[in-house]
Amino acid sequence: MRITLSLIKADVGSIGGHTQPSGPMLTAVREAVDGAVQSGMLLDGFVSCTGDDIAILMSHTRGENAPEIHEFAWNAFLSATERAREAGLYGAGQDLLTDAPSGNVRGAGPGVAELEFEHTLEKPRPAESFMVFAADKCGPGAYNLPLYFTFADPMYCAGLMLPKMIKGFTFRIIDMERTDADWVIELNAPEDAYHIAALLRDNERYAIESIHSRTYDAKAVSVSAQRLHAIAGEYTGKDDPVAIVRNQGIFPAPEELLLPYGKAHYVGGDARGSHNMPLMPVPTNTPVTGPYCLPVVSCLGFSLDAEGRFSHEAADFFDNPAWETTRHKAQQKAFEMRDQGWSGPAMLPYKELEYGGFRDTLEALSERFEARG
Ligand code: 13P
Ligand code: MG
Ligand code: MG
Repeated sequence: MRITLSLIKADVGSIGGHTQPSGPMLTAVREAVDGAVQSGMLLDGFVSCTGDDIAILMSHTRGENAPEIHEFAWNAFLSATERAREAGLYGAGQDLLTDAPSGNVRGAGPGVAELEFEHTLEKPRPAESFMVFAADKCGPGAYNLPLYFTFADPMYCAGLMLPKMIKGFTFRIIDMERTDADWVIELNAPEDAYHIAALLRDNERYAIESIHSRTYDAKAVSVSAQRLHAIAGEYTGKDDPVAIVRNQGIFPAPEELLLPYGKAHYVGGDARGSHNMPLMPVPTNTPVTGPYCLPVVSCLGFSLDAEGRFSHEAADFFDNPAWETTRHKAQQKAFEMRDQGWSGPAMLPYKELEYGGFRDTLEALSERFEARG
């Protein structure tokens, strides 16, 4: 059977500032998902939150970009928005940028990652296991470095040397700045590795949209590589990306996918979406309440049964003592960066200052400059 995993996330309100969604908001989305499973539209569904973003993971047979799936997610987020409004929560409905999407929520605010494949439970996929990443207070480029390391560098993924992976992977990279159309490029690792790096070093402009196995012509990764500010034309919050990654066998193993997160690498985001701060791995459902709202990432692991169900149990990868060291490192790196306040790399460059107000302040000053002589 052909199965599609759809992961759609949105920030539609949070308690006490941009921290976490409320219980009633999550209940509203979970009830909607239960109803969709009962009606047979979804094979299965799972709702979680990371910081102030709610992510709905769904399995179904309707393919990528299916209007009924996208509309379902939109309506579930609308119900959560109502709960947020009733309680006077911060940012109620924040990521629902249009009145109603025309069958596809891509470009309407919510982040979307989708991955369709033949589900046989036979070789080369005798078991279908996958991971779901959700990050808050950062942009889609946050996954560039970790995914590059795993899918293009045997220093991080020795599995790349195995016959099933040695031909490498194709990276589809999107230019998030150009909004007239989706401008994408496909580059092959290992031979194009330096070209891939040349684009991916610019996390604000270029992001990995998907990664495919060249040996099996199978999609391994899907990232919600859209930028709200490019869509909305103004700051409405960071994009807080989600990603689906299939693992094991013909794809990298969980440990090979997770190792790069031990770096707590610096990403654009954090306070007012306008700083560079380290990405801290956290258990799922963790609120953002730390100093200067450090960017965070969560990761859940699932297995798909023959009927496309997965929600009976999940592995919470970053909910493990092994990650305490990285969390301390992230805090340490964060304080080091915060020590220099607004100077240089501590904040994003002018063009990337997500918070339009910063730019207004600068523009007002630019009018007061005078050319000497
Ligand atoms: P969110 O994108 O998570 O709403 O965060 C917004 C922000 O400005 C953080 O300071
Ligand atoms: Mg928010
Ligand atoms: Mg958020």
